Amino acid sequence: MKIEIIGDVAEYYVQTLCLLFFPGAKFSKKETDDSHKASVVVEKQDGMISSTVTIVYNDKTSTKKAEESYGNGISERAGIRIAVGKAFLAAGKSVTGVSPQWGILTGVRPSKLALKEFEDKKSTKAEVKSFFQNEYLVYLKKASLLVDIASLERKIINACPKDSCSVYISIPFCPSRCSYCSFVSFTSNRLLSIIDDYMIKLVDDIKKTFAIIRELGLDLKTVYVGGGTPTTLNKTQLQLLIDTINNEFDVSKLEEFTVEAGRPDTITAEKLSILKNGGVTRISINPQTLNSEVLEIIGRKHTVEQFYKAFEMAKESGIEQINTDLIAGLPYDGFRSFSETIDNIIQLRPSNITVHTLCIKNAADFAREKDSIYPPANVASKCVDYSQLATKNAGYVPYYIYRQKNTIENLENVGFCLPGCEGRYNIYMMEEVHSIFACGAGAVTKCVSPERDNIVRVFNFKYPYEYLSDTDNSKINNKFNTIRDFYQKIKENN
Ligand SMILES: C[S@@+](CC[C@H](N)C(=O)[O-])C[C@H]1O[C@@H](n2cnc3c(N)ncnc32)[C@H](O)[C@@H]1O
Ligand code: SF4
Repeated sequence: MKIEIIGDVAEYYVQTLCLLFFPGAKFSKKETDDSHKASVVVEKQDGMISSTVTIVYNDKTSTKKAEESYGNGISERAGIRIAVGKAFLAAGKSVTGVSPQWGILTGVRPSKLALKEFEDKKSTKAEVKSFFQNEYLVYLKKASLLVDIASLERKIINACPKDSCSVYISIPFCPSRCSYCSFVSFTSNRLLSIIDDYMIKLVDDIKKTFAIIRELGLDLKTVYVGGGTPTTLNKTQLQLLIDTINNEFDVSKLEEFTVEAGRPDTITAEKLSILKNGGVTRISINPQTLNSEVLEIIGRKHTVEQFYKAFEMAKESGIEQINTDLIAGLPYDGFRSFSETIDNIIQLRPSNITVHTLCIKNAADFAREKDSIYPPANVASKCVDYSQLATKNAGYVPYYIYRQKNTIENLENVGFCLPGCEGRYNIYMMEEVHSIFACGAGAVTKCVSPERDNIVRVFNFKYPYEYLSDTDNSKINNKFNTIRDFYQKIKENN
């Protein structure tokens, strides 16, 4: 798709707006085809921003204008984004008939914006809701969802001490690769054979991470072991991981100790007992769908029966909280099939249900068959609406939300829980409440200042073999030096 811009607006933002109407569109500076084109003009004068957007889509053309004032709590940059977004939304709707439910809100963390409205402007729930409806053209149902989530998160965030932190541990291995997945995860036998070496390096990384938390005097609140699929580890490897954490920290003091687990076909009673005895309080057993045919299409390599069995074992293990991940908008998973999945999951009463919407990422196998995997228009939206209604009627509350680019119908991912079972790590991580120290390949450490106004990210090596190649620990040491420097500066500024 061709993009032409005159004025002060980021091309990346215009591309994101294009994706609201033209999913999967590709952008190139060399594009000469004028039949799919977006032209944006931005002008600033006397505190007003005016934007004109023209969209050409095959034989249809639409030009729309919007104006926005800035100052008075709205920065110039935000004013430009709103003016361009509003004009773009009107033109896009006119040529495609599509009306995005999240309006011009394109960010990953919509609840962060809602929290800001609550905190900075001391707005009421009704005011935050109308702010999202009027400024971002968000549908009422989505604005209400956002306000409910932000209000719940606010209580948890305000109770979280400023000197707190969390730890993330990455196990980027899976027994096989699901077709929709874009996570870095090693699955072939050759790659899985490096797990023992990976564990040696990881144990060292974990020990040093806990040591720095002690050195800095931080209050560790949650530990999250994620993946990939952490229960790809065999019993010995899993025991080593859990023992390492327990040797470093009294896990009974944690608010939450999660091991994501995930794939039902990797879960055994013995592994669950290692987790329970090691103080784990939360795990995931993820079906994604309870439709066998859809499971096969998405290459998930486990059965519906295996999910039920693993879920039963997890309940029997006594681990307090069980989360189940589902995906709306999977290919050939119609509304009826999805709603049956939701109903059947609700009957199991897991403490948490997380409903994602299918996101088509380039690194996933699905990306190669893009057109054939898109569900018919509005199916994903109906499924997401149903998930929100059915969980509410069953006593669940939405407690965290995030969005991703290239998600079907630009919908959202929402975590629901029984009251009091909010996944704390998910909230701390998504709302950037405190530092998260990350161990292992692909993991990203985030240093967050106590006032939450400064964030420094430190990237570990992406792939396990790169992580292992750091034989002199220079990358890991760099991570610890960056963390130390970050906290030293905070001390100096106080
Ligand atoms: C980090 S993944 C790991 C979970 C675990 N390995 C499993 O598959 O059960 C967490 C969740 O993200 C969701 N997910 C992964 N890829 C997705 C995609 N392309 N679109 C939507 N949701 C996705 C799935 O629901 C998955 O359970
Ligand atoms: S969805 Fe989970 S099990 Fe499947 S490849 Fe991705 S991380 Fe692994």
